[in-house]
Amino acid sequence: MNPFTFQVPSNILFESGASKKVAELAAEFGAQRILLVTDRGVRDAGLTRAAEDALKAAGRDLVLFEDVVADPPSNVIERAVALCRDERIDLVLSIGGGSALDTAKLVAYLAKSGDQLDDIYGVGLAKGERLPLLLVPTTAGTGSEVTPIAIVTTPTTEKKGVVSPRLLPNWAILDPELTVGLPSHVTAATGIDAMVHAIEAYTSRHKKNPMSDQLARQALALLSQNIREVCRNGANLEARSQMLLGSMLAGMAFANAPVAAVHALAYPIGAIFHVPHGLSNALVLMGVLRFNLPAAGSLYAELAPIIDPGANGLSTDEAAKRFVDGLAAICRDCKVPASLAEVGVRESDLPRLAEDAMKQTRLLVNNPREVTYADAFAIYSEALDGKQRQATV
Ligand SMILES: NC(=O)c1ccc[n+]([C@@H]2O[C@H](COP(=O)([O-])OP(=O)(O)OC[C@H]3O[C@@H](n4cnc5c(N)ncnc54)[C@H](O)[C@@H]3O)[C@@H](O)[C@H]2O)c1
Ligand SMILES: [Fe+2]
Repeated sequence: MNPFTFQVPSNILFESGASKKVAELAAEFGAQRILLVTDRGVRDAGLTRAAEDALKAAGRDLVLFEDVVADPPSNVIERAVALCRDERIDLVLSIGGGSALDTAKLVAYLAKSGDQLDDIYGVGLAKGERLPLLLVPTTAGTGSEVTPIAIVTTPTTEKKGVVSPRLLPNWAILDPELTVGLPSHVTAATGIDAMVHAIEAYTSRHKKNPMSDQLARQALALLSQNIREVCRNGANLEARSQMLLGSMLAGMAFANAPVAAVHALAYPIGAIFHVPHGLSNALVLMGVLRFNLPAAGSLYAELAPIIDPGANGLSTDEAAKRFVDGLAAICRDCKVPASLAEVGVRESDLPRLAEDAMKQTRLLVNNPREVTYADAFAIYSEALDGKQRQATV
């Protein structure tokens, strides 16, 4: 067996209504001045109210930063860091999707360590101290509440990651009630993102390990068995709970066995065209998996029965193709757009997308098959008019 390391946050609370308990958890750190990092959509939907009321009732001073936007740009993070320092904050709390949680992770780190954001992009460069950090996800998607990763959009529209154990929170607080009102199209896209985390962790080239494998398999089962239901019937709290658990397990898997070419090709779509992260993934997913078949077919065949019981007993080759087609069927059933053209990408944009994807070397090294510029270009071309969704078998 290959040696491996495995890191997760030391404390997790998973409970319906858990967001009310942030005041008790914040008290563990003796924190008086608390910064709440969120976005307006989440706050206007009332998702921060229970936590805000509990903190005020406990006599804490609450400072609000609600200017997070999707795919957070570096200047938004820098503004939040300045507020955090000016307000002499003791603890950072974030309630929101991956964009809010990633912003909060960096704010808690940069405000205390004194580092500059530009100096910590990459793996293991953030080594300083951090403020106590509580993370409450409102999407069943990124798994950011359990990953040591934060993703930033730079002024040159590149998506860059900061990866460091310093970004793991003190508490991940999972409250499925917060995900009940997530609109169907966001539910679908974020759910696909979580499935991609599980799949890419399972095939990750260097750091795949027995713990990430088990978590990825369990995550894929929970997510694939519940995604259609939550897209149809968002109020089903039990199905929402399974999705939130699945996205967290997938987060733990890819935090330790990193994601690869699906994410590398998705990032430029998000950064340049402001396409939501999960949808960007879905648009290149089938193309990348099909490209990977010669190198990762046997691993896809191992996963195939999890999403499609009909794949049991098939040859490796057939099962792997069924796997790709099973994912395409989920995307179709959840009404996820099929083509890059539908999100505003034109043929003339493809060279830039492929060039930018090649810059994602942190991710591409994890892909089971080497991806060249020509390969990336071909995958984008196939996605342009939705051909990637066509059956493989
Ligand atoms: N840190 C990690 O490990 C990691 C992993 C994957 C992706 N990411 C990053 O996370 C970001 C994407 O996060 P996301 O997909 O969670 O979306 P998001 O945080 O960008 O939110 C998307 C939209 O959904 C709304 N929303 C969120 N929760 C809601 C709810 N419960 N009800 C109603 N509306 C709600 C938000 O207001 C926002 O408008 C990207 O920047 C991506 O690169 C990070
Ligand atoms: Fe992702």
